[in-house]
Amino acid sequence: MKRSIKLAPSILAADFMNLGTQIREVKENGAQYLHYDVMDGMFVPSMSFGLPVLASVRAGTDIFIDCHLMIVEPDRYIDEFAKAGADSITVHFEACNEVGLTDVIRHIRKTGKRCGISINPETPLVHILPYLGMADMILIMSVKPGFGGQQFIESTYSKLRELASLRDEGGFDFDIEVDGGITLDNAGQVIEAGANVIVSGSSVFHGDIERNVKEFMKRFDAYMR
Ligand code: DX5
Ligand code: ZN
Repeated sequence: MKRSIKLAPSILAADFMNLGTQIREVKENGAQYLHYDVMDGMFVPSMSFGLPVLASVRAGTDIFIDCHLMIVEPDRYIDEFAKAGADSITVHFEACNEVGLTDVIRHIRKTGKRCGISINPETPLVHILPYLGMADMILIMSVKPGFGGQQFIESTYSKLRELASLRDEGGFDFDIEVDGGITLDNAGQVIEAGANVIVSGSSVFHGDIERNVKEFMKRFDAYMR
C-alpha cells in the first residue's frame, strides 16, 4: 500500500524569537506536521519546552502537532499534552516503567489523540512487537535522542525495512516516522526503506526555510504525498 509522505519539521531547530513566522512558513510551503520535541533533562540530558509553549503554538496554527515526549514516565503528562493541543502523542518504550506501555497507550487513546511509540537506536524492534497493533505510528530514532544536528545512524535503514515488512506481513496499519539527522541527501533513502513521516530540524530551519521545505517536497514527489 502506498502511504502519503509527510514532512514533520522539528521546531527544536527554529529561531524562537520568530517561532510563529517560521511555523507559518513551513506550513505554507507544504509541511503537513509540526514535530514538537519535549525533553525533561532525565530521559535525555537536555531540556527543551513543554506545555505553555505548546498551548501558544496550538492557538496560533491549525497544523497537525506531532508531540514527541522524551520524558520519563510519560503517563503523568498525557492528559495535559492532549489538553494543550497535541494531535498525536508519542512516548518512548524505554521511558515507561512504573506504568507499562500498554496502559500508557490506552491512556493516549482515551484522550482521542493519535498514539505513537518510539524506540532508541540501540533498542531492537523485538521489544515493541507486542504493541505494533496498538499504535498509529512507530517512531524510529535515527540518532540518540536529546539533541538536534546529529549525524544519521546508518543501521536505521535496515531497522526501517524490517519494521515495514513486519507491518505488511502482520497486516498492521501504522505510519513509520524517522527522526534525527535527516537531510535532503538521505530523505529519499529513508522513504525507500519504509518511512513515511520524515522529521527534520536543522535541514528545515537552518538557512532558507522556504527553499528547504520546497526541496523536501520535491524529493517526496518522486514517491507520493
Ligand atoms: C532529537 C529530536 C529530533 C531533533 C531532530 O532528540 O527528537 O526531533 O530535533 O533534529 P535534526 O533534524 O537536526 O537531527
Ligand atoms: Zn523528535
